[in-house]
Amino acid sequence: MQIDLPGNLCVVGLQWGDEGKGKLVSLLADPQGPCGRFDYVVRYGGGANAGHTVVIGEKKFAMHLVPSGIVWPEITAVVANGVVVDPEVMLTEISELRKKGVVVGKNLKVSSKAHLIFPYHKLQDKLSESQLGKGLIGTTCRGIGPCYADKATRTHGIRVGELYDRPYFKEKLERIVADKNCIFQALYGEEGFDPQEIYDQYCSYADQLEPFVCDTTELLHGALRKGERIMFEGAQGALLDLDHGTFPYVTSSNSTSCGLFAGAGVPPGCVSSYLGVIKAYSTRVGSGPFPTELDNQIGQYIRDRGREYGTTTGRARRTGWFDAVAVRYSAAISGITAISVMLLDVLAGLETIRIAVAYEYEGRTLEFFPADVHVLEKVRVVYEELPGWQDEIGDIRSQDQLPAEALNYLRRLQQVLECPIKIASVGPEKGQTIPITL
Ligand code: GDP
Ligand code: IMO
Ligand code: MG
Repeated sequence: MQIDLPGNLCVVGLQWGDEGKGKLVSLLADPQGPCGRFDYVVRYGGGANAGHTVVIGEKKFAMHLVPSGIVWPEITAVVANGVVVDPEVMLTEISELRKKGVVVGKNLKVSSKAHLIFPYHKLQDKLSESQLGKGLIGTTCRGIGPCYADKATRTHGIRVGELYDRPYFKEKLERIVADKNCIFQALYGEEGFDPQEIYDQYCSYADQLEPFVCDTTELLHGALRKGERIMFEGAQGALLDLDHGTFPYVTSSNSTSCGLFAGAGVPPGCVSSYLGVIKAYSTRVGSGPFPTELDNQIGQYIRDRGREYGTTTGRARRTGWFDAVAVRYSAAISGITAISVMLLDVLAGLETIRIAVAYEYEGRTLEFFPADVHVLEKVRVVYEELPGWQDEIGDIRSQDQLPAEALNYLRRLQQVLECPIKIASVGPEKGQTIPITL
């Protein structure tokens, strides 16, 4: 199998996350894989809110912080500065990987500039959500928003590298925890945390993480100079981007490809291929507008067949038809050069399949996705209907064996997205992948 994705590659989800990025990144990072050798796989944003599933034979991995490329020993997996690191999650993940036979040593690098998640971030996330009642964002409660907020305000953020100057770390932590405790007490009547307990805990995490910590910006620039090949593994999906998504129902980082350059410290010119990952339909976890949502039997059919329950939180994902208005927008923002359609197998058995091709709003047809919740809640979706297919396609390995209706569906997606589809995925396993040329 050969897939043409030249140069350094960014893999980015174009919907609301869970598009199948984990499968794809691990497949493409395979040194014997379909687009040649990569030397590095880099996570540049988000944190343990991500859940990337990798299935290799009998083994299943749920990656939250460690880049999915780690499953190949030839790859150096990099957690760059833009990621918010929960050391407890990272150490558990490393131990789980090792238990399953994956080598984790010199092949994992963690940026000294990455910000750390602390227990108070997680509590803040939970309490803030509980206060919002019906208007809650539906976060993963992993402390992501509060940690990025502390990074932006500067005075209350702590980076990985700061753990290694113990007196400085202790003093800073004590000051921050005192402030946080005042907030917990005043706003929620909660007692808060003992700084000494956190200090001791994080000193232990620091010792365990030390072999992995380095200046990943320097590392990646060295790689670029040597002409080594890098894959950037996006987390979340473009419609959850803090600036370009459906604010406020978004995450707290730039999950479009825009986040890559700040999040890894590399220049825009160094990436030549941008692979957009889409599901053959849509899903969303948490609150927020979802114009093509199917709150009916078809939605449940898709949820059951796609096993649409969160990798991180286990929550049932909301399901809906493919939204070409939204994906045209997110592909444009991320500069997508090729598309991979995942979970195509899930749609088998449907009489007809719909694609949202336009929105109508206040008597006008909207050409451009309105990333404004007030508009999105009121749009009328214009659908195109295509014939479905009945046979299962999970065992198909070449495009010419696909049912004509499935191929026709891919062809139409390519037309409406105005971007070449190069891959179709028909199951969670590596082998269940079909190179596409339309
Ligand atoms: P990610 O966050 O983008 O990495 O996606 P997740 O791992 O959270 O969710 C995707 C789910 O779909 C996982 O359970 C994958 O194992 C599964 N998956 C990936 N590709 C396919 C596919 O083509 N068909 C089916 N049926 N499942 C898939
Ligand atoms: P992967 O990388 C799906 C969603 C949450 C919530 C919103 C904000 O597996 O695709 P946060 O905890 O980030 O403050 O939550 O974003 N969300 C995701 N949904 N997949 C993800 O990651 C997500 N990461 C965050 O459900 O709606
Ligand atoms: Mg996921």
